[in-house]
Amino acid sequence: QGDRDLIGKHLLISAGGTREFLDPVRFIGNPSTGKMGIALAQAAHHRGAKVTLVYAPSTAIESVRAFGVRCIAVETAVEMRQAMLAHFSQADWTIMAAAVADVKPADYSPEKLSKSALPENLLLAPVPDIVAELASLKQPHQRLVGFAAQTGDIVTPAKEKLVRKQLDAIAANPIDQPNSGFGSDTNQAIFLDRHGRQHHIDQPCSKLTMAHQLLDFIHAMPKC
Ligand code: C5P
Repeated sequence: QGDRDLIGKHLLISAGGTREFLDPVRFIGNPSTGKMGIALAQAAHHRGAKVTLVYAPSTAIESVRAFGVRCIAVETAVEMRQAMLAHFSQADWTIMAAAVADVKPADYSPEKLSKSALPENLLLAPVPDIVAELASLKQPHQRLVGFAAQTGDIVTPAKEKLVRKQLDAIAANPIDQPNSGFGSDTNQAIFLDRHGRQHHIDQPCSKLTMAHQLLDFIHAMPKC
C-alpha cells in the first residue's frame, strides 16, 4: 500500500446513490452514502492515479475533495450516465461503486404534487444501465469493474452480472452482514474477475483497506 503504483493511470470512479424524482420533493432512492467509492478515490489518489469521481448525493464527499480529487456532482441515473460517458474514453480503469437506480417514476411533475394528487399506484420506467453501456464502448486497454450489493448468496448473482454486463471484474458485496454495506465505515466482499480469479474478504475491514485490495486485484488481472 506504500507504492505509487498507479502513477500514469486515470481512474474514473462513481459513488453514492442516485435519486429518481417524482416531483421536486419526492424521490426513489437507496441508503448508499458514497463511502466505498470515496475510499476508492482516496486510495487511487494516494497511489498516484489521476482520479475523476462522479458522485450522487454522498455524505462523505468533503474528505476526498480535500485531497484534490476532481469531483463531479450528479443526482439522477441519467445525469450520472452523462458524466460517466463524458469521461470514460480518457479512463484506464472505471469502477462503478455507485448504487444506481434500476427504475424511476414514469412521470415527473415539475410542481410539487399535493397529497391528494399523489398516485395510488406509482408507474415505473427503467433507467439506463450505465455500466453495461460503458462495456459496449470499452477499448482493449480499459478495465471496467462493477459492484453487486446482494443479500443471501452473493456469488451467484455477481457472476451473472459480471457476464451479462460484460465487466472485467465485480465486487460482490453482502449488505445483510453486520458492519458491511450501505453507510458502514467497514465492509467485506468477494472479488471475481472474468478469468475466474477470486479474492475473499471474509471479515469486515475499513472501506479504505477494501479499496486498496480491490485496486490490487484489478492491477493483478491478466492483460487479455
Ligand atoms: O443494481 P445492480 O446490482 O445491477 O448493479 C450492479 C452494477 O451495475 C453496479 O456496478 C452498478 O453501479 C451498475 N449499474 C449501472 N446502472 C444501473 C444499475 C446498476 O451502471 N442502472
